Amino acid sequence: MRKRSPLKNKRLLVGVTGSVAAYKAVELVRRLKDEEADVRVAMTSASLNFITPLSLELASGAKPLTGLWEEPLAHVNLAAWAEFFIVAPATANTLGKLANGIADDLLSAFFLAWHGRTLIAPAMNPGMYTHDAFRKNLEFLRSIGVTEIAPETGALACGAEGVGRMAGIESIIEGARSAFIPRDLEGQSILVTAGPTREPLDPVRFISNRSSGKMGFALARAAASRGAAVTLVTGPTALTPPSGIEKLIRVETAKEMMESVLKEAPSSRILVMAAAPADFTPESSSSEKIAKSGRYDLKLKATHDILLEVSRMKRRPFTVGFAAETGPLFERAQEKLRKKDLDMIIFNDVTKAGAGFDCDTNQVSIFGRDAHREDVPVMGKEELAHLLLDRIMVLLPGTNLKANK
Ligand SMILES: Cc1cc2nc3c(=O)[nH]c(=O)nc-3n(C[C@H](O)[C@H](O)[C@H](O)COP(=O)(O)O)c2cc1C
Repeated sequence: MRKRSPLKNKRLLVGVTGSVAAYKAVELVRRLKDEEADVRVAMTSASLNFITPLSLELASGAKPLTGLWEEPLAHVNLAAWAEFFIVAPATANTLGKLANGIADDLLSAFFLAWHGRTLIAPAMNPGMYTHDAFRKNLEFLRSIGVTEIAPETGALACGAEGVGRMAGIESIIEGARSAFIPRDLEGQSILVTAGPTREPLDPVRFISNRSSGKMGFALARAAASRGAAVTLVTGPTALTPPSGIEKLIRVETAKEMMESVLKEAPSSRILVMAAAPADFTPESSSSEKIAKSGRYDLKLKATHDILLEVSRMKRRPFTVGFAAETGPLFERAQEKLRKKDLDMIIFNDVTKAGAGFDCDTNQVSIFGRDAHREDVPVMGKEELAHLLLDRIMVLLPGTNLKANK
């Protein structure tokens, strides 16, 4: 599988501090290495009570630095080397030092010597996280451009309930990635649809399809990371909403999805219909649970075609559709593009290995209005999302970009 991460070959310093969440730094470093980043680790002395340098050495491939005095001028040399600084987990104590220019250990001395982009993932007891003294430090760090990946709310290792559990590793990685992604979609508004719809038979049963929503969520996440104002209309999925999007609209049925799309489309420059709204819905749905019996005849009627409705709008966005087919039926995709007056259609054969529903990869062919077909190799949905956005920007009227193959 082809993989391109914006973190590839980027020089990252990961600071690990004395929080119960310190053990999660091992997984973070491992994931950053998966992204092919060049990672070095600096640990505070308090963090050594929670995790051994050996674990982080094995994850990063280099000996972590654990003090200001063990390698003379390490803080200055690291400042010349690093392109990005991640503090995860970040204690109240270390953040207090960073906010106040205290430089009494390697991490805080590095921060002052460095002046580069910094991402922090606080982890602490809710009392600490909500304390005015800590809030003041956090506000100051934000005001000088430090990015916070906010902690989650829930049960904490210290036994407390509330806000303070370190953000998920994926959110931290996403935050690091977006620091290296060009903000070339700033000023663009993108409406993305994702997931299946559910068409109710009765209050407990519905018909649906295999769409996981992964492609639509990947598109929304990629567009937001490149600076677009993203509205995501999604059917029921098990996915965590992408961070950085402007608006999330959850819908259940194809009718609700259509209503949301028609409402949001006039204020959107680009519409990408990655959802799989149902083509059919029960002719009638019962308000009470249908009792089990020997036989039940289900009558279906076609749902409204959302893309066809969009094509009838007076001012419609640049519209991209998806065609999921079971076989190499390129003509059907092209026919759909013409019939629904689309600007671009993304064809995928869901019977192919590594393509289609509930899969982390996809293999697509892209058609524009000129009928030219671009066959894209199998790749991760995140990477594909960026590639599709590149192609949209080439074809979008008023933008003058060359295809970035
Ligand atoms: C068991 C234990 C767990 C701790 N967990 C946290 C924590 O999650 N977040 C935090 O800010 N401080 C936590 N502390 C307090 C810090 O370890 C302490 O403030 C220390 O000075 C932090 O040093 P550092 O910022 O240099 O790593 C914990 C302390 C103990 C004893």
